[in-house]
Amino acid sequence: MKVLIKLHDLVFEPYISGEEINKAIETIAEKLNEDFKGERPIFLSVLNGSFMFSSEVMKRFKEECEIHFVKLGSYEGTDSTGNVRTLIGLNKSLAGKKVVILEDIVDTGGTLKELDRILKEKNVAEYKIATLFYKPSMYREKFTLDYTGIEIPNEFIVGYGLDYDGLGRNLTSVYKRKS
Ligand code: HPA
Ligand code: MG
Repeated sequence: MKVLIKLHDLVFEPYISGEEINKAIETIAEKLNEDFKGERPIFLSVLNGSFMFSSEVMKRFKEECEIHFVKLGSYEGTDSTGNVRTLIGLNKSLAGKKVVILEDIVDTGGTLKELDRILKEKNVAEYKIATLFYKPSMYREKFTLDYTGIEIPNEFIVGYGLDYDGLGRNLTSVYKRKS
């Protein structure tokens, strides 16, 4: 019997187990440890959703590193491109640094597009993208996802940091919206 949960007005059913998520994180962490041997990367945890993933990656990362928790803020730009988003929470120069973006989920890639622009503006030496979940059918950008955990179809999911209108972030496995 499947245990359903209700968050606000929606019902969710179990979708991805905590074990499967842990395995995916182990794999990502192993690759990061290999790729950043002898380096001192700066992890950028993109809040709110990535807090749980970020914490699990940090626990497994063996090299020296920093982590900063950032958020994309938005304001109306005055130029023709419309909205320009800013990075909130970074109090440190990233110039010349190796950066690893930690995302909970990549779908259209809109957030990555903004981060790409901002990180280039900050003259990072290089950046890599790590995401726990990925919806390939929704992705519209060209940025390579260097470390992807679990690919999913276009289902609305909650848990492991991901929310539905603020709820569900504390779940240690992932649920999908019941159709
Ligand atoms: N769930 C919660 N938040 C999200 C999702 C999702 O499936 N996709 C992008 N943000
Ligand atoms: Mg959300």
